[in-house]
Amino acid sequence: MANPLTALTLEQLRTRTSAKWRHFPADVLPLWVAEMDVPLAEPIVRAVCDAIVRGDTGYPTDGTYAEAMAAFAAKRWDWQFDPAACASVADVMRGIVEVLGLITSAGDAVVINSPVYTPFYRFLEYIDRRVIEAPLGADHRIDPHALERALAAAAAGGGRSALLLCSPHNPTGTVHTREELLTAGALAASHGARVVVDEIHAPIVYSDAVHVPYLSLPGNEGAFVLLSASKAWNLAGMKAAVAVAGELAAAELAQMPDVVRHGQTHIGVIAHVAALRDGEAWLDGLLVALEANRRLLGELLAAQLPHVGYHAPQGTYLAWLDCRALGLGEDPSVAFLERGRVAVNSGPSFGTGGAGHVRLNLATSPAILSEAVARMAAAAGA
Ligand SMILES: Cc1ncc(COP(=O)(O)O)c(C=O)c1O
Repeated sequence: MANPLTALTLEQLRTRTSAKWRHFPADVLPLWVAEMDVPLAEPIVRAVCDAIVRGDTGYPTDGTYAEAMAAFAAKRWDWQFDPAACASVADVMRGIVEVLGLITSAGDAVVINSPVYTPFYRFLEYIDRRVIEAPLGADHRIDPHALERALAAAAAGGGRSALLLCSPHNPTGTVHTREELLTAGALAASHGARVVVDEIHAPIVYSDAVHVPYLSLPGNEGAFVLLSASKAWNLAGMKAAVAVAGELAAAELAQMPDVVRHGQTHIGVIAHVAALRDGEAWLDGLLVALEANRRLLGELLAAQLPHVGYHAPQGTYLAWLDCRALGLGEDPSVAFLERGRVAVNSGPSFGTGGAGHVRLNLATSPAILSEAVARMAAAAGA
């Protein structure tokens, strides 16, 4: 299969009107927000175009998305779940907020593993939950001692509490192992915290790691997971996602109000279902191309920015770069943007552990990636 990351020229990409391509001036190479520089998989294009031609733009049929996701999960991860134990949501962040609304109240604490996806902070603040950080270790893995301390602090308030896991982890690309997830689940249970897991990046895991669905593990039946095809097939603008409840949480998820289920779009469901049913070969081709980029980034950094710390991500198309040795201050993304005309995400926005770091989106062509690293090296005076 042709490499989807080399199918579009920079000129073609610049005609896009999404956030990635319009937030910064045209001379900036945008390697920030998690959109990919790929054309859509052909089955998605066909399904959406056919729907438009048919005028099939009404309301979604409840259950269609959950069934397609369940079939994909069974095939890809050997994980079976009951589509009836799911709730349709507009997107993963809405799903996280609404699930947390079912199991915690305003003022309750939610534990997150910093550095972590920036909107976790903003959305938790929006629903008035207290954020308690359990920083990852220097190896980017869940630190059980930090997690235990955070869960104890969350329980100390006397209210209900939750642990919000990101699996695979954005921005480090860590793919949590079975043992790590079992430990996290056991620690949460021992402190009375409910677990919600964001598995949006689950389809994007490379050959040296294996995604373990949280709900496939024994003891986790009281948890909730959020899934979507949006990251792996570049469908963020085609809103659709699904919340899955473990066996012991299904009755709670069934309480999800209609007003929340109403957010899913029919055209989004059509696009996502096409991806899940007919887009697996495209996904496998994408993973080969991303894996090559992950390697290329390591080579480029070693040659041009050898003092930048880089652990190749095991999953996601995000690279977490430790730029502390470059002397570019708390937020090196500022120098990369102003002096290098490269947009990467600001490390400090990911919480504790983010200072001196940036997040780079490597889902682009090798040519753009190479140009970006050359510009970053020049910006750093390397
Ligand atoms: C970990 C994580 N969760 C959620 C989202 C956003 O998902 P959605 O657009 O479905 O809300 C992203 C987007 O990059 C993400 O990386």
